[in-house]
Amino acid sequence: MTHPVDSAVAPSAQVPSVTLKLDDIPERTPHPVTIGRRALLLFRYGDWVYATAARCTHQGVELADGELSGSLLRCPWHGVKFDIRTGARVNQPNCRDLRTFRTEVEDDQVTVYDQAISAPKGATS
Ligand code: FES
Repeated sequence: MTHPVDSAVAPSAQVPSVTLKLDDIPERTPHPVTIGRRALLLFRYGDWVYATAARCTHQGVELADGELSGSLLRCPWHGVKFDIRTGARVNQPNCRDLRTFRTEVEDDQVTVYDQAISAPKGATS
């Protein structure tokens, strides 16, 4: 099962990735993972797993301590909220959207690719 946002883009065999067991990812809690030097957060909703960049686009704080409400992740510093499904910021004009990354779930395995599926949009403060 591929990420619902962009299933038309096939991952390349050369794209770095990491594979985890689905059961090792807690439900509805930011779960840090790294692919090489890239830090990401995973968010599990049943059999779906979303992946985002781990740092806020406003001032770069770690989002792992952010508050998750539904699909909205609130930055612990200044309260920007991002929809972790798309990376879109929903309440502040002064920073970019959060980059999201490709995931695949197959049986009980989750593969996360170092392949962005959304480009940050918005202001570049
Ligand atoms: S650092 Fe995240 S809102 Fe300011």
